[in-house]
Amino acid sequence: MKSLIGAKITALGTYVPPKLLTNADLEKMVDTTSQWITERTGIKQRHIVEKGVATSDLAVEACKQILEKRGIAPTEIEAIVVGTVTPDMLFPSTACLIQDRLGCKGAWGFDVSAACSAFLYALQTAAQFVRTGAHKKVLAIGADVMSSIINYEDRATCIIFGDGAGAVLIEAADPEDPNIMLDFIHEVDGSGGCSLYMPAGGSKRPASHETVDKKMHYVHQDGQAVFKYAVKKMAEASETLLKRNGLTGKDIDLFVPHQANRRIIMSAAERLGMPEERIIINIGEYGNTTAGTIPLALGSAREQGRLKKGDLVLMASVGAGFTVGATLLKWGAD
Ligand code: COA
Repeated sequence: MKSLIGAKITALGTYVPPKLLTNADLEKMVDTTSQWITERTGIKQRHIVEKGVATSDLAVEACKQILEKRGIAPTEIEAIVVGTVTPDMLFPSTACLIQDRLGCKGAWGFDVSAACSAFLYALQTAAQFVRTGAHKKVLAIGADVMSSIINYEDRATCIIFGDGAGAVLIEAADPEDPNIMLDFIHEVDGSGGCSLYMPAGGSKRPASHETVDKKMHYVHQDGQAVFKYAVKKMAEASETLLKRNGLTGKDIDLFVPHQANRRIIMSAAERLGMPEERIIINIGEYGNTTAGTIPLALGSAREQGRLKKGDLVLMASVGAGFTVGATLLKWGAD
């Protein structure tokens, strides 16, 4: 991707709430078994918030780590882009709440709605402001409190999701710096919208006693339709991105996929010819945290010593919408 100014990731922060919801807990809540959940999804536990804790609370913790690590003042941040499907409220945006809590006086911002692809969409949106020279320091955040929109009586969805947040700082790179964001592909296929959605609470079906009684403010999902689309598109988008950059899966140091289902990840990785030791899978620990999965996976890679400055990283996602994203970059943070 040609641009006058390179955009690079210079810091990463992640946060999950301490409370755990394990497969054993879910066995007591719905008709399921830990074995079924692990075999079908790879998930063993998820972190979920205590009552009253919102998406902005998780995001603020992740961003504080970034400011501390990078040693910069909140006032140096010029814009904040938040990917989330569970904003604290419909408005003001979560970006406004985070701006205020962090003390980023002078920063502007907004939320991006792209479900499980929201972190990659926020990342690329934020990077454009840096590439054009409009800003020098922009925060891109992926954060969700999925437990706020999950029906814990529906075994098909409640076993999948967890809460969590992650953020990166994107800065303008020096002209000779090779560790920059390289290329991306984003696609949507809106015809898949009814396969994964929250039917009520928007302008089409505003909240009413009836919508609440019918449990329409929860995630509704056709699991198999989502599964099939995700398996196909995660690999397809990644392959196209690699090909047009003259690369194959074997050239990638680290594959960081959206953590929706272990089987989806392994199928995509197999098609890309990606050896298992180059794939980050932490779904067992966190479940699907929607916009949080990719930054949390980057965090796991860093903790395991598997993510170093200069590594060629491929990230990929598929989410409700349907939304598809794939990003290729050289990791720029220490
Ligand atoms: N425990 C036990 N049985 C369950 C269950 C659970 N938690 N959830 C569903 N089942 C049952 C179903 O009722 C069905 O029973 P039946 O055959 O008697 O009708 C059976 O298991 C198979 O259901 P199916 O939906 O075919 O299972 P699956 O193998 O497709 O797995 C998902 C279900 C949801 C795990 C899987 O489809 C999936 O991961 N889809 C993608 C979801 C996703 O990633 N969403 C986020 C978007 S990024």
